[in-house]
Amino acid sequence: MKNKYIICNHKNNFTLNEIIRYKEELDKINTNNVNFIICPSFLYLNMFNNYKLGSQDISAYDRVITGEVSAKELKSLNVSYSLIGHVERKIFLKENYLFLNQKIKQANNNNIKVIYCLSELEKNIDNAKRVLKEDLDNIKNNLLEDAIIAYEPKWAIGNESNLDFEYIYEIINYISSLVSNDIVYGGSVTSNSITQLLKCHNINGFLLGNSSLNIDELNKIITLSTKYD
Ligand code: PGA
Repeated sequence: MKNKYIICNHKNNFTLNEIIRYKEELDKINTNNVNFIICPSFLYLNMFNNYKLGSQDISAYDRVITGEVSAKELKSLNVSYSLIGHVERKIFLKENYLFLNQKIKQANNNNIKVIYCLSELEKNIDNAKRVLKEDLDNIKNNLLEDAIIAYEPKWAIGNESNLDFEYIYEIINYISSLVSNDIVYGGSVTSNSITQLLKCHNINGFLLGNSSLNIDELNKIITLSTKYD
């Protein structure tokens, strides 16, 4: 059995002082029994160079553009994964498939593994299957075998009371019938919800937002996820 992925997505939550304190606390806990990947803000990537690194985004372009962060720059910081297609970027920054495919290609060309986020907006199982298949069809030509699929229903992100485990199992099993890639689940993963989520054998790990910001909670999640291997 492979170690479960625990992928921490900090988003843009931390100020400099906060991230310094966070790093000190993180270094005290044991992350070795899971496949631990940390995706801090671009600003702080190099502070976490004793961990496996993921970026929260990647430039779609292989040219000079002010403010962009290129795959080449990320590679030089030893970034080995990149989150692509997070639903917040799809909604607020209107990222479309043309753009997402370019990002995937940039990651592939620079040996950065893709963590591709799949998400439906509404909690409706039939509609979700259609939307997720369409999403996968749009990028599958560029998706390599070592890419990770992160299923993160929008309705579950930051909303633990809304979790519906049977629904999530059904969708994860559906995605695993479409692709052979590793699949992780994200959306209100906490030390409370993880035991139920681990019952689904097609879940190879977790993408954590809020829970990754608190070291005690993160530590609990890591410990629990090794118990069920
Ligand atoms: P959450 O976020 O764990 O806070 O629900 C997950 C994500 O958006 O990646």
